[in-house]
Formats: sequence, structure tokens, C-alpha cells
Amino acid sequence: MSEGQKAMSEGQKQNANGVAYQLEPLRGFDGLSTRVQEMPVPGPHQVVVRVRATSLNRRDIMLMEGTYPMPARPGVVPLVDGVGEVIARGSGVTRAALGDRVTGTYYVAWNDGPQTQALGQEQYGANHEGWLATYVLLDEDSVVHVPPHLTDEEAAALTCAGLVAWAALTKPLPVGPADTVLTVGSGPVGLFAIQHATMLGARVISITSSPEKAERLRKLGADEVVNRKQTPEWEQAVLDLTDGLGVQRVVDAVGHLTLPKSLAATAYNGDVVLIGAFPAERGQESADPLGGKYVGLRRIAVGSRADFESMNRTIAEHGLRPVIDRVYPFEQAVDAYRYFETGDPFGKVVITLP
Ligand SMILES: NC(=O)c1ccc[n+]([C@@H]2O[C@H](COP(=O)([O-])OP(=O)(O)OC[C@H]3O[C@@H](n4cnc5c(N)ncnc54)[C@H](OP(=O)(O)O)[C@@H]3O)[C@@H](O)[C@H]2O)c1
Repeated sequence: MSEGQKAMSEGQKQNANGVAYQLEPLRGFDGLSTRVQEMPVPGPHQVVVRVRATSLNRRDIMLMEGTYPMPARPGVVPLVDGVGEVIARGSGVTRAALGDRVTGTYYVAWNDGPQTQALGQEQYGANHEGWLATYVLLDEDSVVHVPPHLTDEEAAALTCAGLVAWAALTKPLPVGPADTVLTVGSGPVGLFAIQHATMLGARVISITSSPEKAERLRKLGADEVVNRKQTPEWEQAVLDLTDGLGVQRVVDAVGHLTLPKSLAATAYNGDVVLIGAFPAERGQESADPLGGKYVGLRRIAVGSRADFESMNRTIAEHGLRPVIDRVYPFEQAVDAYRYFETGDPFGKVVITLP
């Protein structure tokens, strides 16, 4: 640390070393290892966060396997969801105080307005150091305060799955009590979509694969649940439940496998929001992927900081709590990756730090 930086940073009394995981992509779980992490020195408009909890998303497996749209930088600290306490601030910081409990944005520079291709290129836990570490260094513009009623484990669940489900339901216009929302898939995105749609007052129909999951989705707020294994023609069941009209918005958190059925279940002028990732090979496609219907189809990518803050205000107002499946200690982070990949978790897989 230069003398100038010492003078300008606030809250950093001593350089206590921490531990960071690092990811070497394309090596499976063997690509995850630990190293000593020096406490970062915040530059102007940066903060250092002492991490308390972090959680896994499907993208973290894709980054490990090399199937994400962008490559992970070799050696990067992985994971983009997390929560912690601001312990040091560089000069000029106004968006966070020492001691604040904060999370961070998905994108380093997308704060508000529409996303551009350039804004999508810089991501924490992919080509900027992420949250599976003792410390994370954030630009102050990336700081997002978390709803106060949430535990650390719950607050570490919001950045990716929570926010993309929120953006799907609120942009370009929010759904409301006059609307029916269909959720497809019950990973964290689908679970948040049910919770958010319920908060926004919409009727919710959900597609899932087992009676046990169906019961849990009902408890989260789904008004009706259709089991896709028992009812392979689930799009017809959704039309039957909506007097043949279809739903106003679909949150499709699966992808190309379910898209034709999602389209078929959508009402005139309804929207299908595609969140589930298409695999590299899309297989057979009909000439008209919209099936001749008058529906909007948006593929979306998480959300801006402004979207995140809007979501958190509503979460705090309604007391929503994210669904947590399992919590692992930091030393067992690789076991958390394994369970996330193979264990069919219901809710977020969280890693807590001592
Ligand atoms: N665009 C973005 O910004 C963004 C952000 C976050 C995630 N994503 C993507 O969104 C997808 C969902 O992520 P996630 O974390 O919620 O969950 P996930 O762990 O990928 O789970 C998806 C769910 O889809 C359902 N499913 C799986 N195979 C299916 C099939 N053949 N037919 C129908 N349903 C099937 C399963 O639910 P049931 O057993 O209940 O059917 C499963 O739990 C992933 O592809 C992820 O990469 C995109």
C-alpha cells in the first residue's frame, strides 16, 4: 500500500491475511483450490467487504466447465452472490459506510437503464474477483444494501437468481393482480419467480416434476401446480386453468426444451421471458419458433443495480425470505459445488465464512 493510499483509505487498521478460492476452468472440481488472500487496498471509490456468506448459481458450474457465454479468467475468485460487511473505504466513497451489510451487483458496470453488450462483459466471479474469499473488493457503484430482515445466508441468495426473476416480472411493465404468471422449472430462479409474482399480487401456475416439489411450490405461493411428468401436455393444462386464454407472463427457467410449450401456454399479447440457457446445440427447431402466435419473447440477463435496489425495497416491505437448501462451511466449499451439481437442491446452496 502506498503512503498516499494509506492516508486515503478508511477503516483498514491492519493487513490481516485471508483465504480465497481460485478457479482454473476446464478441470472440474480439481480446478478449485485455495490461496492466501491479502486484504485488498481500496482505491478511490472502492470498498472492501469482509464476506460472511456466498452462494452458488448454475453459471458457476458453467464457468467451471467452459460452457458459459464468456470464459472464466484462470485463477479468478469464483461466485457472484454474497453478503458481507464493509470494512474499508477508499477516498470519495458515498454509497456505503463502514459496517454496512451489503451485497454486490452481477455486472461490474451496469447500474441502470438498458443493458449493452459492453456492460455485460465485466462480471464478478468470472473476469473480476468474486465472493468465495475472505474479502471482496467492489467498486462503490456495485454496492447494494440488503433487506435488513434477511439472515446472511438468505441475503447471499439474491444477486443472480433473485434479481433475474424480479427483472422478468417487472420489466418492461410489472405484473399485477390482473395477471397470471406461469413458472417453468423449480431451480432458484423458478422459486424466486413464484415468490416475487406472489408479492406482486399475480396468480401463479407452476410446472414441476414431482408431487413433493409441487407441495413445496404451493407453500411458497403457487396457486396451481402441474406435474410435467404426470401431465406431459402441461401447456394444455395451463390453458384449461385459464379458461383457454393462457397466461400473461411466462418465466421460463429451463430453455429450449420447454419454450414451445411455454409459448403455447401464453395469452394473446402475453410475454415469454426466457431465462434458462440454451445449450450450444439447439437440435431440431420449427421454422417459426413462435408457433405463429402474437407473443413477445425476451431473453434477459440478470438486472441492473437500480433493478436490484427496487427488488430489495419490495422484499423488505413484504418480508420475503429466499429459499435455502443447505449451508456449508467455507472449508467445505468444494463439497458445496459437488452437492449443487449432483444433489438436485431445492433452493440456494450457501457457503458461510467464519
Ligand atoms: N439469463 C440469466 O440472467 C440467468 C440468471 C440465472 C440463471 N439462468 C439460467 O436459468 C436456468 C435455471 O437456473 P436455476 O438456477 O433456477 O436452476 P437449475 O438448477 O438449472 O434448475 C432448473 C430446473 O429446471 C427443471 N428442469 C430440468 N430439466 C427439465 C426438463 N427437461 N424439462 C422441464 N424442466 C426441467 C427442474 O425443475 P423441476 O424438477 O421442478 O421441473 C430444475 O430444477 C439455468 O439454465 C441458468 O443457467 C439465467
